[in-house]
Amino acid sequence: MASSAQNRPTPSPSPVRAPPHVLSLLDKLHRLSREQEDAVQASEVEAVGFDNYMRDKFIALDRDKAEFLYQLCLAIGATRVVEAGTSFGVSTIYLALAVCENVKRAASGGEGEGGVVIATEYEKSKADKARQHWKEVGDELTGCIELREGDIRETLKEGLPEIDLLLLDIWTPMALPVLKLCQPRMRRGAVVVADNTIGSASKYKDLLEYMRDPGSGFRNLTLPYTNGMEMSVYMP
Ligand SMILES: C[S@@+](CC[C@H](N)C(=O)[O-])C[C@H]1O[C@@H](n2cnc3c(N)ncnc32)[C@H](O)[C@@H]1O
Repeated sequence: MASSAQNRPTPSPSPVRAPPHVLSLLDKLHRLSREQEDAVQASEVEAVGFDNYMRDKFIALDRDKAEFLYQLCLAIGATRVVEAGTSFGVSTIYLALAVCENVKRAASGGEGEGGVVIATEYEKSKADKARQHWKEVGDELTGCIELREGDIRETLKEGLPEIDLLLLDIWTPMALPVLKLCQPRMRRGAVVVADNTIGSASKYKDLLEYMRDPGSGFRNLTLPYTNGMEMSVYMP
C-alpha cells in the first residue's frame, strides 16, 4: 500500500525563470533572511527600538509571496512597478525578472516603451547591499531597476510613471501615505499588494479602512498566505 506521503499532491515547481546564478542567489538570500527572522528576540527589539534593530535585517518577502508577485506581474503584463520597501533587494529581483520579460515580449511585438521597477529605501547601508545583490544578478536586470534612496514620502513625490503594480512591503505607518502618493498615477486595473495584512491588521487599520471603503475604487481580497497578504485591484 502506498504511504500517505506518496499520495500527497506535489505542488508546482517555482514559476520563476532566471539563469542558474540568479536562482542560487535567491536561494541564498531567502535562507539568510529566514535565519535572521528565526533569531529575532522580542526583548532585543524592545531594548534597541524597532528601527535600530531592523537596520541591518533583510525581512525579505517570503519566497511563496515573491513567486506570487512574479506570476501576477506576468499575468497583468506589468512594466511599471513601484516597490515600497526594498531592504536588501530580494523582492526587487522577482519584480525585475517579470518586468524585463514583459518588456522583451512587448518589444518583440513592436510595442512598448521599456519598463521600470522603482525601488525605494531610506537606509543607506541597505540600499548599498541591494545594489551589490543586483550587480550579482547582471546588467540586463539592473537596467530596469531605478533605486530611489531617501524617505519614500519625498522620493515618490515626483517622476512616477503610470503604475501597473504597487508592492507595499514597508513599515506600516508608511503604507497609506505611499498609496495616496501613487494612486493618482495608477492605471485602471492596477494591482496593490500589501504584505502581512492579517498579522499586522491593527497597524494597517488606516490603510485597510481606506481601501475597503465602498467608494474607494479598490476591490480587495485577502490572500491566505502566512500572516495574510492583501491584493487589491484599482477599478475607479
Ligand atoms: C520589509 S522591508 C522590505 C523587504 C523587501 N521588500 C524584500 O522583500 O526584500 C521594509 C523596508 O522599508 C524600509 N523603509 C521603512 N520606512 C521607509 C521610508 N520612510 N522610506 C523608505 N524606506 C523605508 C526599511 O528600511 C526596510 O528596509
